[in-house]
Amino acid sequence: MNKYYLTTPIYYTNAAPHIGHAYTTIAADTIRALKQMQGCHVVLATGTDEHGVNVERAAEAQGKTPQEYTDTISEEFRRQWEILGLHIDRFERTTSDRQAQCVQDLFRRCRERGQVYKGNYTGQYCIFDNAFVDDAKPGDPCPDCGRPTETVTEENYYFRLSEYTEKLLTLYEEQPDFIQPESRRNEVIAFVKQGLRDLSITRTSVKWGIPVPDEPKHVFYVWFDALTTYMSAVHGEHLWPADLHLIGKEIVRFHAVFWPAFLMGAGLPLPKRIFAHGWLLFENDKMSKSRGNIVRATPIHKVLGTDALRYFLLREVVFGQDGSFSYDALVGRYNSDLANGLGNLASRTLSMIHQYRGGSIPASEGDSRIAEEASAVTSSALAAFEKFEFSKALEMIWSLIAAVDKYIVERAPWKQAKLPGGNQHLDQTLYTAAEALRIITSLIAPVLPESAAKIYEQLGFTGSITEVRTKDLHWGHLPAGQALGTVSAVFPRADPKISIEKMKELEIEEYARQQAVLGKTVPQPVPHITIDDFLKVDLRVGVILDAAAVPKSDKLLHLHIDIGEPKPRSIVAGIAEAYKPEALVGRKVAIVANLAPRKLRGIESQGMIVAASLEGGSPSLVSFLEDVPVGARLK
Ligand code: MSP
Repeated sequence: MNKYYLTTPIYYTNAAPHIGHAYTTIAADTIRALKQMQGCHVVLATGTDEHGVNVERAAEAQGKTPQEYTDTISEEFRRQWEILGLHIDRFERTTSDRQAQCVQDLFRRCRERGQVYKGNYTGQYCIFDNAFVDDAKPGDPCPDCGRPTETVTEENYYFRLSEYTEKLLTLYEEQPDFIQPESRRNEVIAFVKQGLRDLSITRTSVKWGIPVPDEPKHVFYVWFDALTTYMSAVHGEHLWPADLHLIGKEIVRFHAVFWPAFLMGAGLPLPKRIFAHGWLLFENDKMSKSRGNIVRATPIHKVLGTDALRYFLLREVVFGQDGSFSYDALVGRYNSDLANGLGNLASRTLSMIHQYRGGSIPASEGDSRIAEEASAVTSSALAAFEKFEFSKALEMIWSLIAAVDKYIVERAPWKQAKLPGGNQHLDQTLYTAAEALRIITSLIAPVLPESAAKIYEQLGFTGSITEVRTKDLHWGHLPAGQALGTVSAVFPRADPKISIEKMKELEIEEYARQQAVLGKTVPQPVPHITIDDFLKVDLRVGVILDAAAVPKSDKLLHLHIDIGEPKPRSIVAGIAEAYKPEALVGRKVAIVANLAPRKLRGIESQGMIVAASLEGGSPSLVSFLEDVPVGARLK
């Protein structure tokens, strides 16, 4: 039996899973099922990428050890794949003992073969965050905290990547499908042709990582560590090399340049293929935690089912290109293609067999025209699946659904049932519809596993649809006399308004749940107010005239603020930890001008200054990008 070993990226544990991560894992699960249908012994590995400075920092902010912190989030990913019913064979964490051994082993092999050396790494370092800022130039600010970076040199191990330029170009040349799609391959080739520089693969400034053998002050750079998971996940199982690394397009360089070079350096076999898909966009931007435009998978799973999400992602987005997610499009596809298309074909076919033939598949060879069409669609859809052209394959399968629908309408079995001597014709119509439905169901099972299993059972099969092989897809495999199972709707129609509202509601709940898992608090929703309520608040632009610390208080500053009235306001604000008094003079701010005056530490405060309240952090004053006149009202 041919083995097929495929992987997804291992996901960072600095954020909880969203449908961007689900997209890759669902595609991988679909490929797993397709390869299984071809009779391969398939192993799908995924996991979590848990080392590095970001995790160290996030854990510290919550008073946890990095291990405690990553345990929780890694579990969150594992749980997510379980809820979505994805068939994961290996889940590897970079914090496993086996991983440490494999990474150290890879390094030893490279060292023995003279592929690594000790050198000095000079880069821009953020003293506050204790981290090098990759790709920063002298004078650049830290992208995380905005403070200036400093040029720092530390001792590192280097991998001789510069010696691999020609070897990699030969690899891409000799194995044209090593990187796919073509656009990504061209990008990589252009990048490598510019020549490669040696790569630093260890750090001494990071603690949370796998130590270099015999030199524990060095830990491995995250990518040297992370990529090795693909091997450690199947250590000792004779599954390496991987047949496919499925990834998102932003990490192509690591997979198509660094990874094969490390493996060549260690004298180990290379993966056979790297396929990079595009980004899932939401509201025209890449969906990501930092952009805050995330949609989670479980609300969709609860309202429409995981198959609806799988279908949408693989049908709507051309695999390899970017594509947009929207709730409207999701429900639209669900209703038109699943409820009306496939669901309708299944229920009308099966109910007619119940009604006219007592629930038993009639004997007939079926209609030769539909049989031919089914065979043509089967081979072209399988060929498209083989190239990961999911959208195209599904489009073809749905053209067969439309053809069978049309056939049923033309044959009008409800009329045939009334015609004297119409029995044979009716048998043929019903058999054709049922046999086409069986082939369609088997073909879509890798994409819609749960629904296909239900239809398969309703067709009267007692075995699992996962046991169907490509050889079973030929016409005439459905046995006459087979008794149907109980018929029920597989895709009940969804009311767009109600289902979208429900998903959005559950999305808020899921966000809160994930935040709680991450140890963060979520602001409670505030009840709606009317515009009249809002207009009761007199918000004004003010300019700070002077500021001074309030004696015996770490938090309070006493400010005088001109808001366009004859006399400046005296305002006491809890911003001393974030702002030095002298830095505030002349700054324009937003003021709540009609807040009832009150005394703080004996000083009358005649209003309130507006600031964002940051979790566990300092307040951040609201300010204006354009020049605004003092006294202007905020509405
Ligand atoms: N830990 C690294 C990968 C190491 S692999 C040896 C990493 N992790 S990640 O958590 O950021 O996950 C990145 C992967 O998640 C992407 O390559 C892609 O597979 C998936 N996606 C995350 N957001 C996505 C979208 N918005 N759209 C499509 N895929 C997305 O990078």
